[in-house]
Amino acid sequence: MGRSESLPSAVAEAVHPDAPFWLPFTPNREFKTGGARLAARAEGIYYWDDQGRRIIDASSGLFCVAAGHGRREIAEAVGRQVAELDYLPPFLRAHGKAFELARRIAELTPGDLNRIFFTNSGSEAVDSAMKIALAYHRARGQGQRQIFISRERAYHGVNFGGIALSGMANNRRHFGIGLAPVAHLRHHHLQENAFTRGQGAQGAELADDLLRLINLHGAENIAAVFVEPVAGSTGVLVPPRGYLQRLREICDQHQLLLVFDEVISGFGRLGDNFGAQTFGVTPDIMTLAKALTNGTVPMGAVAASQRIYDGIVAAAGEQSIEFFHGYTYSAHPLACAAGLAVLDIYRDEGLFERAQKLSPYFLDMVFSLRDLPIVTDIRGIGFLAGFDVAADGAPGVRGHELQKRLWDAGLHLKTTGDAAILAPAYIAEKAHIDEIGDTLRRVLKSF
Ligand SMILES: Cc1ncc(COP(=O)(O)O)c(C=O)c1O
Repeated sequence: MGRSESLPSAVAEAVHPDAPFWLPFTPNREFKTGGARLAARAEGIYYWDDQGRRIIDASSGLFCVAAGHGRREIAEAVGRQVAELDYLPPFLRAHGKAFELARRIAELTPGDLNRIFFTNSGSEAVDSAMKIALAYHRARGQGQRQIFISRERAYHGVNFGGIALSGMANNRRHFGIGLAPVAHLRHHHLQENAFTRGQGAQGAELADDLLRLINLHGAENIAAVFVEPVAGSTGVLVPPRGYLQRLREICDQHQLLLVFDEVISGFGRLGDNFGAQTFGVTPDIMTLAKALTNGTVPMGAVAASQRIYDGIVAAAGEQSIEFFHGYTYSAHPLACAAGLAVLDIYRDEGLFERAQKLSPYFLDMVFSLRDLPIVTDIRGIGFLAGFDVAADGAPGVRGHELQKRLWDAGLHLKTTGDAAILAPAYIAEKAHIDEIGDTLRRVLKSF
């Protein structure tokens, strides 16, 4: 039964033009006047909509549900935690699972990024990382370093720091001038690398754009450079070979902190623990979220190097709070319980290795769409891929229509503008990849 013929479910009846729920990043009027796409439950790699129709999840929800939906182990761990210790103020108090989860994350991070500050989302992790960078420089007597560098086509969340860093005009244009002083590097999405699998050969020299911004603003005024190792939300932009290494070199030469926003690329998405390991470049700070709790309980984190933590802590007087920052729900017991259960699943089921092994099959499927005239570029690495569809009218109109038609055809994926982003759960079987490929081809041909 198609959408138009379906009977209204109880939840569908709650959706009407005057419904109080204000949806985020959604055209509310369209959604509430017949455009609602509703899910009622999820298990494994599928959603079921309010009519009981099965929908394959090609984007792990929003890149979070890496171990698959409905994991009993996580539900049980969170349930036990509610009964045992539901909430504890995170200031001046702590519980064992916060220490344990930080220790487990630090075992996975590269280099000495072994100091873990918990937040409740990726956006909060980004803003917290900005504050850590500023506090670190101030602690070492370089408080004038207040400018941040990021990149065009970056997405660093939606808090005021994050939208200033992001290279996406739409996320900023309605909200005034922004608060943080940020200069943007050119993006590295080059036509010469179109339809490249993995890292492109062209464009490493674009990292030298950082030198231009250093010359413009003065290295002594710059706090940190924020990049996603792979820009995820704007369509999976994989860095050219040598690009991140060059950024690292320039940062070292000028004492700039390098921050990798690994909110999407972390926890096995690219095949290793983090993108830092995949690309062999160790940043000074990483921001994390999403797959940390498999999307079950909101949680983000900042992993900072020992040097940064020591610098901030040592500069403060005895018994004084070294870092004036934190949230009511930092290190929330339920999020910590979920995170520990999730890290157990990743380890015990070898899920990062599993995704790594299935990556060539997955990328073969995505790149096989190349023969469709509507597909103008494809990119991918690990278990993450993006493709662009030719714009039709205003940018983003076709991408929006695409995700609706795909849902109606039984497939969920995330689009940004006219880019579609694929990131299946690591538990996917070849048959799931085939199903995703078949549905994509069928729907893309319908345009
Ligand atoms: C790289 C990156 N940073 C930050 C964020 C923001 O995370 P959240 O939506 O949890 O605030 C996202 C979300 O997609 C992201 O992809």
